[in-house]
Amino acid sequence: MIGCGYLGAVHAACMAGLGHDVVGVDVDEGKVAALQSAAAPFYEPGLNELLADIQAGGTSGGATSGSLRFTTDLGQIAGARAHFVCVGTPQRRGENAADLRYVDAAFASAAAHLAPGDLIIGKSTVPVGTARRLAEDLHRTAPEARLVWNPEFLREGHAVTDTLHPDRLVYGIPDDPDRDATAAVLDEIYAAPLAGGSARLITDYPTAELVKTAANSFLATKISFINAMAELCEAAGADVTELADAIGLDDRIGRKFLNAGLGFGGGCLPKDIRAFMARAGELGADQALTFLREVDAINMRRRIRMVELAREVCDGSFLGQKIAVLGAAFKPESDDVRDSPALNVAAQIQLQGGNVVVTDPKALANAEHRFPDLQYEEDLETALTGADAVLLLTEWTQFTGLDPEATGALVRTRRILDGRNVLTPATWRAAGWTYRALGRP
Ligand SMILES: NC(=O)c1ccc[n+]([C@@H]2O[C@H](COP(=O)([O-])OP(=O)(O)OC[C@H]3O[C@@H](n4cnc5c(N)ncnc54)[C@H](O)[C@@H]3O)[C@@H](O)[C@H]2O)c1
Repeated sequence: MIGCGYLGAVHAACMAGLGHDVVGVDVDEGKVAALQSAAAPFYEPGLNELLADIQAGGTSGGATSGSLRFTTDLGQIAGARAHFVCVGTPQRRGENAADLRYVDAAFASAAAHLAPGDLIIGKSTVPVGTARRLAEDLHRTAPEARLVWNPEFLREGHAVTDTLHPDRLVYGIPDDPDRDATAAVLDEIYAAPLAGGSARLITDYPTAELVKTAANSFLATKISFINAMAELCEAAGADVTELADAIGLDDRIGRKFLNAGLGFGGGCLPKDIRAFMARAGELGADQALTFLREVDAINMRRRIRMVELAREVCDGSFLGQKIAVLGAAFKPESDDVRDSPALNVAAQIQLQGGNVVVTDPKALANAEHRFPDLQYEEDLETALTGADAVLLLTEWTQFTGLDPEATGALVRTRRILDGRNVLTPATWRAAGWTYRALGRP
């Protein structure tokens, strides 16, 4: 496993849990040291338990575990039959396009260690056309190795389950005489999920790459669609959560991903839709994806609207007001703060003079690293004490389960902004709170 971040570390642990012998390589010494001592360098439910279980030779995943070790020495990949590339593909600075330097470097340095017949398997999310280009390079540097594109669909917060029981496995393999033999190696690696019912699709390279970006674009569009409806609901005095319930009952639409609120963030959806637009432009097909610009714009508008709504509730100014921000992670059950809507809102309010205190069960260390000027508080009660307004921006159960009376006894003024539409307005209003949310009267 080359690259042991949110994707690679989970994939490494799960593959070992399924009985394979795995070596995880990363250039980050701190990450490697943490993983080697069975302590994941990030929060992902079930991951530490899985790492510890494998170290103890356990049976997570249904099979006797294989071996698992982590190293910074890429030479240790020699002898493996399958090499997964899981390095990052962030947005390029000042551009929409993906930065492929880590993928290119990983492939170039791995090539020297590949033996004839080895598979090198791309899992990172890349612009369509990348696999074909990498395969051409590989043809020169390691002609007897074979490249597969096997995009990853895991969700942070559910990564272990998603890796052990994926909805589908997509193998991007060129249509040549070795295709079946290559697929057979992947089938062996994924024997347990396949036996458990995961669907398996074999496609060419560009289709496999597009499956990932198309899926993320669809999800982002669904979220922005309901958030656009929230804007209309606000203008018309309607309730977007009731609207979502009603349209979601149509099984052609479905209720999932129709939760209006502060919108999406994280290390994937925002950069993936932007990279997709950039790539479409390069291919001369930019018109096909102009709608994604609107999807992105609707999403970013939610953050601005949230700040406006909070200011409205605070009688027009944040000056001298303590604002308790509940949530720093981009979503619950994760400590990932990349492009976090909650932190974006917190920073805007602080810039407008608010005395902002951010609390989160898992993400404070990462948040402090990204936004060192914000004030953080680990203890939820302390964060709430004396607040003039409470903003629920990441729907951790610790926050969604708050009791209006007990919370009311801590704050100075009973004002709550429900950035994720997860509270019951009537209950909070009955306890004397001013309750406001995006897309609700
Ligand atoms: N995080 C997710 O939920 C998720 C889901 C599906 C797909 N993806 C995709 O997977 C890829 C990785 O995402 P992530 O969230 O795990 O990123 P991440 O930043 O958490 O991890 C990337 C890791 O790669 C390491 N790395 C960089 N260059 C390296 C090299 N040459 N050799 C070895 N290690 C190297 C980094 O040190 C880092 O630990 C991205 O393309 C992302 O879009 C992520």
